[in-house]
Amino acid sequence: MATLELKGVRRNFGGVKAVDGVSLQVRSGTVTGLIGPNGSGKSTVVNLIAGVLKLTSGEISLDGSNISTEPADSVARRGVARTFQNIRLLPEASVLDNVVIGFYRLEKASLMASLLGLPSSRKESRELRERGRALLAQFDMSAYENVAAGGLAYGYQRRVEMMRAVASSPEILLLDEPVAGMNDVEARALGKIFARLAEQGMGVLVIEHNTRFVSELCQEVHVLDGGRLIAHGSAQEVMRDPAVIAAYLGN
Ligand SMILES: Nc1ncnc2c1ncn2[C@@H]1O[C@H](COP(=O)(O)OP(=O)(O)O)[C@@H](O)[C@H]1O
Ligand SMILES: [Mg+2]
Repeated sequence: MATLELKGVRRNFGGVKAVDGVSLQVRSGTVTGLIGPNGSGKSTVVNLIAGVLKLTSGEISLDGSNISTEPADSVARRGVARTFQNIRLLPEASVLDNVVIGFYRLEKASLMASLLGLPSSRKESRELRERGRALLAQFDMSAYENVAAGGLAYGYQRRVEMMRAVASSPEILLLDEPVAGMNDVEARALGKIFARLAEQGMGVLVIEHNTRFVSELCQEVHVLDGGRLIAHGSAQEVMRDPAVIAAYLGN
């Protein structure tokens, strides 16, 4: 069981208070939503958790241990994985290879040894490819195993990115607008996959602009506006909140 906790997290960019005193928790086995209008600070929160940006003040901890000052690679090794708002894949590499890269948080042979085909890494890479295929099945992507990732339709590229993040067996998974640009059918299919990851014990934080998607998926929702949390509770509760309605209408 893991808990990610943000306490009074702030981040300024010059005079802009992008994140202005955010406190929230993400627990194993749940999908937590973080919603808010464009520019409300959602991606900045993800970048602060992932160690890509430094905090101006406040604290971020994982299971009570302070990770606020750790660099991104060490946060990832501790079990916090993320996807990006803009897709980042190796476009020429196959879907399976893009996913297998994600396993290397845990494996001892270096990625370079594997790419060079050194004997020590062959058995390991065979095992990793099997595990990669299992993930492809879980995400309904088996048919695309050998397709170059860059040639896939947008929604499928997003799935590859998510599989790569999940491959590292994270305790906490941060998804920045995972269904942006998708239709409701695609979004719902992905939502089912996120719910299953949580059932398997992962703590998932879903950043979204799409409030309908979040209300179907999340047990608890936090609402950001201008860098501040203006509401939290069940999706039904926050959607009824006049401050939330005003924030969305005002956007
Ligand atoms: N690297 C940066 N430099 C300067 N300002 C930034 C930077 N990143 C984000 N901001 C500003 O911080 C605010 C929040 O941005 P962001 O976290 O991307 O919002 P969201 O993801 O909710 O759309 C915006 O006003 C944005 O312009
Ligand atoms: Mg964003």
